[in-house]
Amino acid sequence: MSDLRNIVILTGAGISAESGIDTFRADGGLWEQHRIEDVATPEGFARDPDLVLGFYDQRRAAVQTKHPNPAHIALARLDREWSARPNHNLLIVTQNVDDLHERAGAAHVHHMHGELLSALCTSCEMRSPWTGAMIERPPCPMCKAPTLRPDVVWFGEMPYQMDRIYGALRNADLFVSIGTSGAVYPAAGFVRDAREMGVETLELNLERSEGSAWFGESRLGPASELVPTWVDEVLAR
Ligand code: OAD
Repeated sequence: MSDLRNIVILTGAGISAESGIDTFRADGGLWEQHRIEDVATPEGFARDPDLVLGFYDQRRAAVQTKHPNPAHIALARLDREWSARPNHNLLIVTQNVDDLHERAGAAHVHHMHGELLSALCTSCEMRSPWTGAMIERPPCPMCKAPTLRPDVVWFGEMPYQMDRIYGALRNADLFVSIGTSGAVYPAAGFVRDAREMGVETLELNLERSEGSAWFGESRLGPASELVPTWVDEVLAR
């Protein structure tokens, strides 16, 4: 492509797998250890809040012991160097609730499925940075009500700021999907949306994703190897 300016990158659990964070759909992955209906739906939370708060408390504590891997670090470098070029834009749309993109130094990150290190108050609806546990029902930092929940988008809820994502896709020259199985919509549909808008598409994944056939190009392998190589290629343009 001769005139590459605007890049949208979608990331999923596969990019954090080599940092030691479990993916969802692998053998032994999170959704084999827990039922989605129990821990990732508003109905599950209403039924057994302790189970749900405990599940996310554990994940929140675990993620703070993990570190960005070469794939996060390469994307942060791309973000920094690409966004510094005049009229060049980059947006990392992540389905991940960890903060490894940010800790690697990426600035343009949108968490469409929310964040483990954030609390959402069901009384005042404010979102607050949160690193500790919620199981003991701590007060909301804003309104003081003991009504915090994980600031994570559950099945049946609307991902954050879809208009921002579609706006970026409409202006994109390249859409890149990294480490996602393509099993969960609306993110799984971005590749088709991008193609319909004439955007070039690339997949970097360990294995072919469910939507693999829609991508103009698929490169298969571990993110820690594929992503730094691809970033070097882009920055050499
Ligand atoms: P999945 O667990 O569904 O898919 C992870 C993908 O990453 C798979 O296609 C793996 O082959 C690939 N993968 C694994 N290790 C990799 C590596 N080292 N390098 C590159 N790729 C690797 O996770 P997601 O697609 O992120 O949503 O799941 C999407 C959503 O489903 C999540 O955000 C979550 C979940 O339910 C909610 O909780 C709302």
